[in-house]
Parts: sequence; C-alpha cells; structure tokens
Amino acid sequence: MPLNTQQHTILIAGCGDVGSTLGQRLASQGHKVIGLRRNINQLPQGIQGISVDLTQIDDLQAKLQGIHCDIVVYAAASPNFSPEGYQQTYVDGLNNLLRSLSTPPKHLLFVSSSGVYHQDDDSLVNENSPCLPRSFSGKIMCDAEKTALAAPYPTTVVRFTGIYGPGRNHLLKRVKRGDVAPATPRQFTNRIHRDDCAGVLAHLITKALGGEKLETIYLATDNTPATMYDVTHWMAQQLGIKVLSESATRRAGSKRCSNQRIKESGYVFQYPSYKEGYAALLKTDP
Ligand SMILES: NC(=O)c1ccc[n+]([C@@H]2O[C@H](COP(=O)([O-])OP(=O)(O)OC[C@H]3O[C@@H](n4cnc5c(N)ncnc54)[C@H](OP(=O)(O)O)[C@@H]3O)[C@@H](O)[C@H]2O)c1
Repeated sequence: MPLNTQQHTILIAGCGDVGSTLGQRLASQGHKVIGLRRNINQLPQGIQGISVDLTQIDDLQAKLQGIHCDIVVYAAASPNFSPEGYQQTYVDGLNNLLRSLSTPPKHLLFVSSSGVYHQDDDSLVNENSPCLPRSFSGKIMCDAEKTALAAPYPTTVVRFTGIYGPGRNHLLKRVKRGDVAPATPRQFTNRIHRDDCAGVLAHLITKALGGEKLETIYLATDNTPATMYDVTHWMAQQLGIKVLSESATRRAGSKRCSNQRIKESGYVFQYPSYKEGYAALLKTDP
C-alpha cells in the first residue's frame, strides 16, 4: 500500500491481536501508531507503546496529556467472561479514555460485537435490526456502544462476529479430536478472520481521514453465515479426521449476520468465507 503523504496519529486503546495487526498495517502506511495496553512489551515493532490500565483514570490522564490523536480506536477486550470484567473493560475503560483525551479526535471507532443481537431464529440481522440482548455481555456491550456514540465527536461502532485467525484455532483443535457439531439443533455461526477485522478498521480509518462520512454502525462479518454442522464437517474433511463424537457448542443465538453495509462502503474481504480463512490457517498452522 502506498505511504501517506500526510502522517496522522492513531491511538489504539486495547492494542491486542486485532489492534496490533491494524497498527502494523497503519504504520506501514506511514502513520504514527500508539498502542495502549498494560503489557506493552507484547506490542510489535512500529507501534509506540503506552503502558497503562484503562481502569486507572489518573494514570491514563497523566500518560495521555499533551498527545493529540487524529483517530482513536477502542479495541480492549475483557480479560474474563464476567459482568465485572465487561463493565470495567467496555464501559468504565471507555469512559475513562474519553475523559482523558487532551484534544478531540477527528473520529472514534469503537469495536463492539454481534453479541448485542438477541435474535435466535436464524433470521438475517443488519445494523438496523433491534438489539435486545438478555445476556449480561450483550447488555453491557449495548451500554458501551451508547457510551461511545454519546462522545462529542464523530463516532462509529464496528460490530465483529466470531474472530478466528492465527493462534485462535479452538474450533480446529476440537475437530482434530474428532468432535463435530450435530445437524440439530441447527446453529448458524458468523465469523470474520482477524486480518479482515484489521482490514475493515483500516478501511474505515482511511475514509475518515479522507473526510468521508462514515455510518454510525457497521456489522463486520464475512460473506458466509454457515451452520456449525457445515463448518465442523468441512474441517473434518479437510483434515482427514474420522468423526468420533458430536456435541453442541455454547449457543450464542442462531442468526445470520449481513455484511451488506460494509461491502457497499467498498471493503473487499480477504477471506470471504470460513473455507478460505481456515484453509489459509491450515497451511500456516497445520
Ligand atoms: N473474540 C471474538 O470473537 C470477538 C468477537 C467480536 C468482537 N470482539 C472484540 O474485538 C476486540 C479486539 O479483540 P482482540 O481479539 O484483539 O482482543 P485481545 O487480543 O485480547 O486484545 C485486547 C487487548 O486489550 C488490552 N486490555 C484489556 N484490558 C485492559 C485494560 N484494563 N487496560 C488496558 N488495556 C487492556 C489487553 O492488553 P493488556 O492485557 O496488555 O492490557 C489486550 O491486548 C475486543 O473489543 C473484543 O471484545 C471479539
């Protein structure tokens, strides 16, 4: 990708797997990238680290003092699946960050999740679908989206579906043990490769920096909702694994997520379905 003639400063708060992949991409385009997390020794080259805990507002304010960021991406992930972890990471940490920015950014991008949808009837959902989650995780993520969207500058929420990619291969490991999903109850899953998460965010950042107006919400998922049965049986076939058992996974609802809006914005998926994405993973991480 060509280097930008104008360098911008992009802050990635919660600079983990997705954030670091995004940061490396932006740095290679010539931007100055700041990665904020507690353990900055895990940041890749090209990303300037700020070591701070998002839940500690005094330290956060001190460390961000005098730093102007053109774009802020909030991509922190809760360290555990608990109401406390979710509240602290997605709502309190975000609030603290918003109160610590020295100057208003041109655009804020908040990374959310398709966990905000309650639909469990295989229906097709998009950015206009109602979100009435019953789970604590979905409810807190909805609160976090509202917190982000109340910020006094242009803000976009990006809802990712299930992220997979290098090092995130729990489903492959399960199938390698011979365990697959049953045909019934049918469960649709929606997924996106880690590199497409970074790709979608980089695409939206480029648009925002170019002065284009972004939508308030994008649902970012690949082109191909599929049943767990189809995904796990396809994997077993690719791996040449004999199926030994069937077990239903934790149900995160059964819905089909539409990526029409992000595609209409011009984003082209590197991995349009689980087949391309997992085939690439099997080559690098057999
Ligand atoms: N997993 C999925 O399938 C999925 C689906 C939809 C959406 N998402 C969302 O996608 C986003 C990116 O996920 P990811 O895979 O990149 O997560 P990740 O690799 O776990 O990275 C998250 C980062 O947040 C940092 N962090 C957590 N708590 C923090 C705190 N209190 N202060 C400062 N930094 C903190 C962690 O770094 P330190 O530990 O060093 O602080 C970590 O590097 C998250 O918002 C996640 O909720 C995930």
